[in-house]
Amino acid sequence: MHDQAVTIQLFDREPHDFSGDLLACPVEEEIPQFGPDAGVPLNKLLHRVRETGDFKGGKDQAFLLYPQLTEQGKEPVVRAKRVLFVGMGKQDDAINVRREQLRLVGGTIAKQAAAIKAREVAVVLPKDYLLDAVEIAQCLVEGVILGNYSFDLYKSPKKEDDAPVRIERLHLHAGGLAASAVEKGLERGRVVALATCAARDMANQPGNGWTPGDFAEYAKKIGKKTRLKCKVLEKAAIEKLGMGGLIGVSRGSAQPPHLVVLEYKTDKRQPTILLVGKGLTFDSGGICAKPPAGMEDMKYDMCGGAAVLAAIQAIAELGVEGVNVVALIPATENLSGPAALKPGDIVRHYGGKTSEIINTDAEGRLILADALAYGIETYKPEAVIDLATLTGAVIVGLGHHHTGLMSNNDRLAGLLTEAGAEVGEPLWRLPLGPEYRKQIDSRVADIKNAASDRSGGTITAACYLQEFVGETPWAHLDIAGTAWDFTEKTYIPKGPSGTGVRTLVTCLRQWKSLHTIEKK
Ligand code: BES
Ligand code: ZN
Ligand code: ZN
Repeated sequence: MHDQAVTIQLFDREPHDFSGDLLACPVEEEIPQFGPDAGVPLNKLLHRVRETGDFKGGKDQAFLLYPQLTEQGKEPVVRAKRVLFVGMGKQDDAINVRREQLRLVGGTIAKQAAAIKAREVAVVLPKDYLLDAVEIAQCLVEGVILGNYSFDLYKSPKKEDDAPVRIERLHLHAGGLAASAVEKGLERGRVVALATCAARDMANQPGNGWTPGDFAEYAKKIGKKTRLKCKVLEKAAIEKLGMGGLIGVSRGSAQPPHLVVLEYKTDKRQPTILLVGKGLTFDSGGICAKPPAGMEDMKYDMCGGAAVLAAIQAIAELGVEGVNVVALIPATENLSGPAALKPGDIVRHYGGKTSEIINTDAEGRLILADALAYGIETYKPEAVIDLATLTGAVIVGLGHHHTGLMSNNDRLAGLLTEAGAEVGEPLWRLPLGPEYRKQIDSRVADIKNAASDRSGGTITAACYLQEFVGETPWAHLDIAGTAWDFTEKTYIPKGPSGTGVRTLVTCLRQWKSLHTIEKK
C-alpha cells in the first residue's frame, strides 16, 4: 500500500511569514477582509485583488497569484511562493452546507496544489465562519487530504517532472481561532480522512492485488499498531462454525475465505455496536456469470468491508469513548470453479437457517447472513450496521448520489441519516415489509437468495438480511451506487470514494451522548 502520509501542524507566525509553496486563503463573499489576525500584507493583497473586480469570493472561485512579482525589487511582503484565494461564497443557513463548503474548499486547495506541484502548503482558517473551531479545522483538513488522494501504485515511474506530487506538509494558521480547538479538529480530520484514503486504496487495488488474505493481513497489522484486538477465522474454523454461505460462495475460487474480526473494547458496561462489511474481493457472478462489459468494476465489491475496517481503525486511533465496536468482514471471491455453488443448491448458515440458491450472483447476502448471525450471537450488540455493495438495483433507484438505507429501527436510521448528512454522504431510507419478504419465500428452504423478478431488488436483498438479525436494531447501507463513482466533488475523485467511513466514525463518536437504542 502506498503512503498518503502528510504532516499537519499549526503555523503560529504571521501568515505572510510562511515561505512554502502555497499559502491558501479561503475568502468569504460578503466579508471584505480577513481581519487583523491574518496580518496587514495579506489583507492588502486581498484588497487589491478585490479592487480589480476579478475575484469576489464566490463559491468555486479560485485565484492564484505570485506575490513576489507584485513587489518588484524588494523583499516580498508575503513570503509564500504563491497565494491562493479560494472563494467560499456566502454562508449558508444550513450547518451541513457550511461544513460541506469547507470540505469543498479544502478539496480545491488540494487540486490547485497538485496542479502547481506544491509540497508545502499553509491554510489560513476563516475566523468568522459560523461553525465550531474544532469543526472548521476538521472539515478543511478532511477536504485537503481527501482531495489530495491519488492511486499510482501500478503506474510505472514517469519522467521526473511528470511524476504526481502530493502535499507533504500542511500548516494551519488558526486565524484567530483557539489553537487547542484547531489542534483537536485537525487531528480528527487527519485520522478520519487518512482512514478514508486507506479504504480507497483497498478498493483501487485489483482483484489480484487485494485478496481475502490481504484483508486478514491488513487487519492483523492494524491490530498491532492500535489497541484493536484482531482475530482471523480461517477456512477450517468457518466450516466448523457452520457458515455455509461464506464457505459455499468461496468454493468456486482458489482463494480460501477469511472472516476478519476486529474488536475495539473500552468498557464492559458500555454498549457494543457491531459493524459488518461485505468483503467480496472479486464478484464474477459465479455460475450465473455477469456480462464481461464492466465486470472489472467488481473488484470494488469489497468496499463495504474496506469501509468497516477503515472506520474501526479511525475509531481506535481517535480513542472514541462510550462504545465498544466490533467489525466483521466476511471476505471471499465469487468465481465459477468446479466446486462453485450452482442454482438450486441449498446452504445452511451459522445458526441453522437454510438458503436456496436461485442466483449465484446474489452472493453478498449469503456471506453477510453468516457474519450477521455469528456477530449477533457472539457479541450481543446494542445495534448492528452493515455496509455492502449489494445490489445493482440501488443504482437504478438512487443513482450515484445517495446510499440506500434500510432499517428495522427508526432511531438508528435517524442517527445514521444525520451522521451521513453531516459528513456529505447522504443516505436515503427505503422501506422493508412482509410483502417484499414474501418475494423471497422458498418452496424447499427457509428462504431463497433472489426473487423470481427484479422488482424491489434492493429491498428484497435487505429483507433477506433481516432474516438473520432477528430483533436486534439493525441498519443496512447499500453502497453499490456510492462506493465508487459517487457524486464527483473537489474532494471525491472518480473511482472509489471511501464512502461510509466518515459516516460510521461520526455516528459512533456521537453514540454515547446521543442516546440508547430502544429495542422496539
Ligand atoms: N456485487 C453485486 C451488486 C452490484 C451490481 C454492485 C452492480 C455494483 C454494481 C451483487 O453481488 C449482485 O450481483 N447482485 C445482483 C443480485 C441479483 C442477482 C438478485 C444484482 O444486483 O444484479
Ligand atoms: Zn454478485
Ligand atoms: Zn457482489
